[in-house]
Amino acid sequence: MTFSRTLRLAAFAALALAAVVACKREPTPPPSTATPPPAAAATSGDYDEHSYAEPDKVAIDDLALALAIDFDTRTLAGTATYTLDWRDPEAMELVLDTRDLAIERVEGEAEGGAWQPLQHTLAARDALLGSKLTIAAPERNARIRVSYRTSPEASGLQWLDAAMTQGKATPFMFSQSQAIHARSWVPLQDTPRVRYTYSAEVTAPAEVMVLMSADNDPAAARDGSYSFRMPQKIPSYLMAIAAGDLVFKPISARSGVWAEPAAVDGAVAEFADTEKMIATTEALYGPYRWERYDLLLLPPSFPFGGMENPRLSFITPTVVVGDKSLVSLIAHELAHSWSGNLVTNSSAKDGWLNEGFTSYVENRIVEALYGKELSDMEYVIARNALATEIKDMPPELQALAVRPGVMKDPDEGLSGVSYDKGAWFLQFLEERFGRAEFDVFLRGYFDHFAFQSISTATFVDYARTHLLEKYPGKVTMAEFDTWLYEPGIPAGAPKVLSRRFGVVDTARLGWLGSAQLPPPVITDAWVTQEWVHFLEGMPETLTTVQLSQLDTSYAFTGTPNGEIAMRWYPLAVRSGYVQANPAIAAFLQKIGRRKLIMPTYEALVATEGGLALAKDVFARARPGYHPITTASVEKVIAEAKPVASSGMAPAPPAIDATVVAPEPERPAMPVADGDPTRPAPAKR
Ligand code: BES
Ligand code: ZN
Repeated sequence: MTFSRTLRLAAFAALALAAVVACKREPTPPPSTATPPPAAAATSGDYDEHSYAEPDKVAIDDLALALAIDFDTRTLAGTATYTLDWRDPEAMELVLDTRDLAIERVEGEAEGGAWQPLQHTLAARDALLGSKLTIAAPERNARIRVSYRTSPEASGLQWLDAAMTQGKATPFMFSQSQAIHARSWVPLQDTPRVRYTYSAEVTAPAEVMVLMSADNDPAAARDGSYSFRMPQKIPSYLMAIAAGDLVFKPISARSGVWAEPAAVDGAVAEFADTEKMIATTEALYGPYRWERYDLLLLPPSFPFGGMENPRLSFITPTVVVGDKSLVSLIAHELAHSWSGNLVTNSSAKDGWLNEGFTSYVENRIVEALYGKELSDMEYVIARNALATEIKDMPPELQALAVRPGVMKDPDEGLSGVSYDKGAWFLQFLEERFGRAEFDVFLRGYFDHFAFQSISTATFVDYARTHLLEKYPGKVTMAEFDTWLYEPGIPAGAPKVLSRRFGVVDTARLGWLGSAQLPPPVITDAWVTQEWVHFLEGMPETLTTVQLSQLDTSYAFTGTPNGEIAMRWYPLAVRSGYVQANPAIAAFLQKIGRRKLIMPTYEALVATEGGLALAKDVFARARPGYHPITTASVEKVIAEAKPVASSGMAPAPPAIDATVVAPEPERPAMPVADGDPTRPAPAKR
């Protein structure tokens, strides 16, 4: 830790302490999940166990932020003013979610407009949920204002020194609020059940551009003082802010890219189809309701692929690979403008309503714009991963609609079940009811529940009327229940076959048997997905001779394509292919996107030598990692059970490439019971 960082922490600790003395403390709460949901709500599925808020009593209608961004102290400081909707006539308290916030003052607006202090209590910190802030408001004030300051360790913010940016001259900061990190930078009712409009006045150093999930002006003057408004009601996990040396280039009249100057042209070229994607989705599901749709290209430390912050999706730079082969990620984040941002899951346990619908819509966009061969390949990759993932999952987490109390950490809810089983269910419905009918249904669903947060039960009610009863005899309620509440993939699930993956399977099998690689005329035309499938079907380990042969022909080691790297490096590690270690170290230090790097860390920690390398790389990479990525890597290292190794990885099996028994051919369609030789799929 640097000296200045120590100082910053000490300063924050002092502030936090001051805030603590200013308000009463509650004793340490019981573990979060011990808080029992009200009996009725627990069964309705509407209760959100990941928030302390009590929106049935009082709900935030509008939030006005006034914040100063301070890169020196790595803090946001200012006020949050809530306009409140007092729903329960008995209610006299506003309960907010916070995590690691120093609460400096709480005031309520009196009838005459004067602001008066309000009593408040900040509870002890729960590791998962943070600190409940209870504000006594016997007058049921129409507006309440909280003055606060964030911690430099806020779980929802990442601060990057200028040295960690592309331009090396300006620091960078960005938020990641989903699932429950908004509370670490704004005190609020951090549950998707509550939707509100917001505005913000933000100050920053003059050379820094600030953007939010709101009405960013592509022509805004960069002067250190910025105003935002989000007139559509959004849930808290869609609160977003970013600041840095950001410039804008348009893609169309209503969309464009914000990025660091050196990256903007590449991103505009890669994402050139964004307007077509918007138009395609509108043709399917109705108008885009958020005015502009811009993309913000983040530094490589962004822990996710993308985040659907309204009007401004946050995007990892790892999808800029030069051939548009990974732009389904843009289709995905855009699709959330209907599934998720417009119609929102009312709690994380119904996350499939967001991610499953979005993965289905994403696939439809990809099919419409790039053809069925690509959308099929993407479905096969996702479902092969799901089959492997599901094998080690407790049955109760394999249901689309997760029962109350089952999902501990909503960040762990990011499994292939919500995404890929969810999309699979909708594809099943599409097949049974017919595409035209199902498209009409989905469009009606988005219209009907626009700007609302709903549970699985509400979706089922709507589907009962608008699908099951409208088209009798096609799908039964029992089939719905199996998909929604049972583990595994139902027997009648649609099959996806990929012709192009058939070619890839043959090529791999041929090479494993004969050491003859497919002719370049075949592989020269392969896109990322085909390389991914080629590698995913490989045996657990290969010989050094085999790996070198692949490397010589395809230059996998050092590939700039993270989707390929995340499959190649674990194979290299498991096979003891130590030549790749410098490239592995460089990859893990450059990229912070969890999905891309975790498989390699997981492979490394399996042996003592690998674990040592993982620890060494992590120590160097850590200052550049996001708190979410840091937590994941720490967990893998802490839970490692390495076996003794003489070198960096287990000795390669004593087999000769020329006599190796061919692997049984992996069908190009998903395998229901997975494949025991395959590594666990990456965490998203
Ligand atoms: N909304 C998610 C990201 C998310 C979900 C963050 C839950 C935290 C908790 C986003 O839309 C997403 O799904 N991102 C994927 C993209 C992919 C499926 C195309 C990712 O980051 O990998
Ligand atoms: Zn998503």
